[in-house]
Amino acid sequence: MIIAPSLLAASPAHFGKETARAAKSGAEWLHLDIMDGHFVPNISFGPAIVKSLRPLTKMFFDVHLMCSRPEILLEPFVQAGADQLIIHVELGDQVEPLIWKIKQLGKKVGLAVNPPTAITAAQPYLDKIDMLLVMTVNPGFGGQSFIHECLPKVQQAEAWRRERNLDYRIEVDGGINFETAAECARAGADTFVSGTGLFAHRNMKAAVKKMRQIIHENDPALADLKV
Ligand code: DX5
Ligand code: ZN
Repeated sequence: MIIAPSLLAASPAHFGKETARAAKSGAEWLHLDIMDGHFVPNISFGPAIVKSLRPLTKMFFDVHLMCSRPEILLEPFVQAGADQLIIHVELGDQVEPLIWKIKQLGKKVGLAVNPPTAITAAQPYLDKIDMLLVMTVNPGFGGQSFIHECLPKVQQAEAWRRERNLDYRIEVDGGINFETAAECARAGADTFVSGTGLFAHRNMKAAVKKMRQIIHENDPALADLKV
């Protein structure tokens, strides 16, 4: 399992310090939410900020592009130090060329599905991606409540992965806390983005440890082994 604190929950005035705190928390990835004020009704930060954080940690940078024209941003974010670029399936015809462009740049490919979008929209791309992101809130803001109706999508993503013998990760993002992380783990998620659910804790290391323990206890792969 991978835990990815989302920097969006940190104060922009303290991004450096908060990145260092996340790096020491035991979480493997740092999730970076990029919003363009068009695909979503909010603006976050760009490649210059990501580049300034890159020397602070060796963490895997999971860059979530909530942007209408990601094609103009792929190279700048790769140069800034992104390890994975997530694009949205809602971009339709643009998805396929974007996937190939990210692969050409030598980076991992994530594909995100918004709550109102059917998971079947992602089906044609499953053998071409490294990760499927099932959004569990409508993107644009941190601190929203988890949408339970998204859980069957996680189950479907897991069923497809098993049936087709694929190996993409299944990430969940939005409203993930100790309780909802457990529900997502039971549904088959293996990669957990959490903003306020982790950054709000003064002791983030303890929060990551607790979340990891809860996910582990709810991992269906381990359920068979329990007496
Ligand atoms: C939502 C973003 C999320 C956000 C999650 O638009 O994609 O990554 O940071 O924040 P929380 O965990 O606070 O819901
Ligand atoms: Zn995100």
